Amino acid sequence: MNKFQLPELPYAYEALEPYFDQETMRIHHQRHHQAYVDNLNRAVEGTAAADIDLLDILTKVSQYSPAIRNNAGGHYNHSLFWQLLSGKPQVEPKGKLVDEINAAFGSLDELKSGIKNAGLGQFGSGWAWLYVKHNGALGIVATPNQDNPLMDTQLTSRGVPILGVDVWEHAYYLKYQNRRADYLEAFWSVLDWSAVEKKYEEVINTLV
Ligand SMILES: [Fe+2]
Repeated sequence: MNKFQLPELPYAYEALEPYFDQETMRIHHQRHHQAYVDNLNRAVEGTAAADIDLLDILTKVSQYSPAIRNNAGGHYNHSLFWQLLSGKPQVEPKGKLVDEINAAFGSLDELKSGIKNAGLGQFGSGWAWLYVKHNGALGIVATPNQDNPLMDTQLTSRGVPILGVDVWEHAYYLKYQNRRADYLEAFWSVLDWSAVEKKYEEVINTLV
């Protein structure tokens, strides 16, 4: 049995319509994410990474091959992304997460602008992230390819991602073509803030 497996989506492919279309969701999950999983299983075979879990691979990714870096990142990033989305009516965040967002960025709208600008400013493929720094503060960063803030190759903005948006063209091209800004706007309509809050709580509980 392969070490890494494609996780099932916690909703139907059409659940995020009309913001994320079902064909994009199906191809993104069944082909793109599956390819990262398959390539990661091949890449770790016979290496020191074969017996190490995904988080440990990512936090020490500089020790491994580019194939492991790209595909471990691809598997982790997409697994997180799917968990953050929902077709349910969206409820804005509350409590400690909002306090931290206000402290770091001024307001929720400023955070949304920051993520949008990070996503638009990422040349070519990559991700825009909201992440928790090691001192507990929040930060925004964009990373190229399938990198993420967990990686030890991320020299100035390391931490744990709690919100990520995929800005590879495969995430939006069928519906939005070259309009990455429209896709990044639509993202807020399918973002499940309760999933972000849950992730945030998990992360800060490991810091104390
Ligand atoms: Fe993707």
